[in-house]
Amino acid sequence: MINGVPQLEDLGDVAGQRVLVRCDFNVPIRDGAITDDLRIRAALPTLRWLQERGATVTACSHLGRPKGAPDPQYSMDPVRARLAELAPGVELLENLRFDAGETGNDPAFVAKLVAGQDAYVNDAFGASHRSHASIVGPPLTLPSAAGRLLEKEVEVLLGARNEPRRPFVAILGGSKVSDKLGVIEALLQVADSLIVGGGMCFTFLKAQGHQVGSSLLEEDQVDTCRRLLDSGATIHLPSDITGLGPGGKIGDPSAGGEVRQFGRNLPDGWMGLDIGPGTAAAFSDVIAEARQVLWNGPMGVFEDPRFAAGTRTVAEAVADCRGFTIVGGGDSAAAAAQFGLADRIDHVSTGGGASLELLEQGDLPGLAALRSAPNTK
Ligand code: 3PG
Ligand code: MG
Repeated sequence: MINGVPQLEDLGDVAGQRVLVRCDFNVPIRDGAITDDLRIRAALPTLRWLQERGATVTACSHLGRPKGAPDPQYSMDPVRARLAELAPGVELLENLRFDAGETGNDPAFVAKLVAGQDAYVNDAFGASHRSHASIVGPPLTLPSAAGRLLEKEVEVLLGARNEPRRPFVAILGGSKVSDKLGVIEALLQVADSLIVGGGMCFTFLKAQGHQVGSSLLEEDQVDTCRRLLDSGATIHLPSDITGLGPGGKIGDPSAGGEVRQFGRNLPDGWMGLDIGPGTAAAFSDVIAEARQVLWNGPMGVFEDPRFAAGTRTVAEAVADCRGFTIVGGGDSAAAAAQFGLADRIDHVSTGGGASLELLEQGDLPGLAALRSAPNTK
C-alpha cells in the first residue's frame, strides 16, 4: 500500500475472479478515428497484470461529455476496436456517461456496475478528480486497488510536489487564470520560479499596467494577479508578444490579418496569441537551469502554425532540460506529441484536470475512495 492506497497485490489471488477496471479512455477522436491512443496504451500494464493472473477483466470508461443518455457520437466503438488489438479478451462497457447515474454518483448505478464483480481497480488517473459513480462507488463494497498507471501518476506528481528537486521551475499556460488559480498558489509555495505564458499571461500583464489590446483578459482576476506578483515569488512573464491584427481569424491564416511582434503592450484591436521569440528564449534559459520542470498549458495557440513557435521553443527547452521533466496532461501533452518530443519528457501525465487538482490538493476523491475499501480494513 502506498499512502494507504491499496495496490494490485493487495487484492490477493485474482485467479478466476471478475475484476472491474475503471480506465480513462477519454481519447481524442476525429472522424471516428482515435488520434492519440496514449490513454489506452497507458492502461495495458494493469489490464495485462490481471489477465496474466487469471482474472476476467471488464474495463469501463467515459468518453466526452454526453448528457446522461446514449449518443452515437460518443460511442465506445472506436476505443473497443483499439483495445481489442492491444488487450484481447478485455471486455469494455459502453460509455458510462450514457447513464446520468455516472456523473450524479447514483447508488443504483453503482449497484449495476458492481453486480457480478469480485473486485475493482481504479486505473483512471485522468478522471480521479471526479466524484463520479464509477470512481468513488465500487470501493464502498468491493475489494479495491489502484492500477499501475494511477499509482505511477500519483508517485511522480506527489513526489514533484512534496519533495521537489531544485531549482524547481513550473511553467503554466492556457487561457484562464481563474481555472488555475488554486494550482498557481499551490505551486508558488513549492516551486522556485513560475513561468507564465498562454492566454492567462495577459491578465498578469494588465496587472502590471500594460495594454493588452483585444487579448484574452479576465478583468475580475487582475487584482488577484497583482497580489501574486507582489507576493515576492519569482514569476516570469513575457517581455514580447506575437499578435494578430484586426480582421485576422485564429486558426485561419487565409482570412488575412497581420501578424506582428510587440513588446509588453498591444494596440487596440490586436490580440496576443503567442509569446514572442525573446520571451521564448528567456524562458528557455530558466528551464535549462532547472533540476525539475513541471509544464502545464501551452504558451500560445499552437494549433495555428502562426502562433506555435513559443510553445514549440518551450517544449524543446523542456525536452533538452537535464533535470526531471513532467508534462501535465491535456493540451501540453498534445503539443509535446505534435512536436515529436513526448519521448524526451520524463513523465507525460495522462491527466489534465486531475494532475492540477492533485498538485493543488495533494489528494483526489478517487484515491480517498480506495483508501476506505473493504480490503484495507
Ligand atoms: C479528461 O480528459 O480531462 C478526463 O477524462 C476527465 O474528463 P471530464 O473533464 O469530462 O470529467
Ligand atoms: Mg530530462
